[in-house]
Amino acid sequence: ALGPARPRPWDGLRVLVTAGGTREPIDAVRYVGNRSSGRMGFAVAEAAAALGAEVTVIAANVALARASGIRYLDVETAAQLGEACAREFAACDVLVMAAAVADFRPSAAVDGKLKKDGRDELALVLERTEDVLSGLAAVRRPAQTLVGFAAEHGAPALAHGRDKLERKGLDAVVVNDVSQPGIGFDSHDNEVTIVTAAGDEHVPRATKDDVAQAILATVDRLRAAAPAR
Ligand code: CTP
Ligand code: CA
Repeated sequence: ALGPARPRPWDGLRVLVTAGGTREPIDAVRYVGNRSSGRMGFAVAEAAAALGAEVTVIAANVALARASGIRYLDVETAAQLGEACAREFAACDVLVMAAAVADFRPSAAVDGKLKKDGRDELALVLERTEDVLSGLAAVRRPAQTLVGFAAEHGAPALAHGRDKLERKGLDAVVVNDVSQPGIGFDSHDNEVTIVTAAGDEHVPRATKDDVAQAILATVDRLRAAAPAR
């Protein structure tokens, strides 16, 4: 028989994770999307749940297996992800924004299915989406912990990451250099640098489960240093 449940370090902590990649409709059957699989976000969610946290995942087009004991809310577009975040954010202690959110969407989706007849080319006009994470950071409580991601290309990756930390008002930014083969988008491994006001922590190439552990350890440190609830 099972004995009384042992207390776990994140019992009672409410964690909100966004995962996957948004899809912005072009017409009834086509979209503008990205290569995010949702693996990194799901790994963070599962690791937090294993520590006892109450976890909600806002999943954008994620085709992965789901864990019992985690609450999943499915969305497709950046606008839907923004609405779900707006509903859920106030009730979380920790936000991990791992989703790849579209920066632009087709200004007007075509009704029905676009036909190719009579066209030699097709120009898509895109408009900016809202920056969901910046919007949430603007209404945060000081005791909430906000972790963003930054997929960057090449040498200026860390500088861009630090810039996002400051510009968006975050506690940590998980930076990965997507110019490196075999890590990051749509792969099983990741290699990241976790940027905080206290400094940078490089996490050498590891599974996304191991990178998730490093992210949670950073959240623990940030919470220990944060204002009391
Ligand atoms: N993000 C968001 N809403 C958007 C775009 C991004 O909430 N419309 C979040 C991402 O989930 C991520 C962080 O902001 O946690 C950084 O995303 P990233 O794409 O790296 O940065 P951007 O601010 O979009 O800048 P750019 O893509 O031009 O580098
Ligand atoms: Ca972006």
